Amino acid sequence: MVAERLEGRVVSDAIATRVSERIASLPIAPNLVFVRVGEDPASVSYVRSKSRLAQRVGLRTRTLVLAADTDQGTLEHTIRELNRDDDVDGILVQLPLPAPLDEAPVLVLIDPDKDVDGFHPINVGKLWSGLDGLVPCTPLGILAILDHYGVPLEGARVTVVGRSNLVGKPVAALCLRRHATVTLAHSRTRDLGASVRAADIVIAAVGRAGLVGADMVRPGATVIDVGVSRVDGRIVGDVAPEVWDVAARVTPMPGGTGLVTVAMVIQNTLRAARRRRGWA
Ligand code: GUN
Repeated sequence: MVAERLEGRVVSDAIATRVSERIASLPIAPNLVFVRVGEDPASVSYVRSKSRLAQRVGLRTRTLVLAADTDQGTLEHTIRELNRDDDVDGILVQLPLPAPLDEAPVLVLIDPDKDVDGFHPINVGKLWSGLDGLVPCTPLGILAILDHYGVPLEGARVTVVGRSNLVGKPVAALCLRRHATVTLAHSRTRDLGASVRAADIVIAAVGRAGLVGADMVRPGATVIDVGVSRVDGRIVGDVAPEVWDVAARVTPMPGGTGLVTVAMVIQNTLRAARRRRGWA
C-alpha cells in the first residue's frame, strides 16, 4: 500500500481563494508588514513566498529589511513604530534573528493584536486557555490539512515529536482543543518509537532528516511532516521515505505543511484586521 499524498498546494489554494474573496469585500485591504533582519537564505525565501501570496490575495504588504548587524535597540524601535501605526494590521518578524539579537524581547514587544505569528505570550496563554487569540501559522496549517482530508481529531491519539514554541507546543494545544489525546515527545523521550507507534496521527517537527522510520509508524496512521533539513542539496523532512509504505496518509516534503503555513499568514492577517477594525 502506498500512502495518500496530503497535498499542501490543494489546501493552500482553497484558503487563498477564501481569503481573497473576503478581502475583496472589505472597505480597505488589511496591511501586513514583514520584518527581516539580515540575508539568511531560508529567511529570504520564506518572506518572499509569504509576501507574494499576500499580494496575490489583495493584502497591502511591505517588507522592512534591516542589516544583519542591526542592534537590539534599533530593531525594538522599529517594532514600536509599527505598533503605533494604526494602519498596520499585522507584524511578522522572520525568525531566526541573527546573533547576537535576542528574539524573546522582540516577540513580547509586538502588539498581541497585530501578532500574526501568534508567538506573543498573551496569544500563547489564550491558546492554552481556550480563549480567542491569534494562533501560530504552522499548527493552524496542520489542522487545516487534517480537516481538508477528513482526518478526525476527536478521540484520536496524536503524537507530536518536537517541543518548539513555533510548532510542537502550539500544535499540541490545538489538537487538545479538538479533543485529541496528545503525547508531546522530544529528543529525551524514552522509547520514542513506542510513543510514535501508539499514534493515529504523527506530527514530526524536529528538523532531523528521516527521524521517523517505517518501524515507528502504526499501519494506517496519518503522518504530518514539518521538519526541514537539507541533505546533499535536497530538502528532506523528518519522515523517512519507507513510511509511505506503512502509513495511510503522509504530507510530502517539500509540498506539504510549508505551503499551508504561508496561507495561514494571510488568513491570520485578515483575522487580525477584522478584530482590530471591528469588521464582522
Ligand atoms: N521561521 C521559521 N518558521 C517561522 C514562522 O512560522 N514565523 C516566523 N516569524 N519565523 C519563522
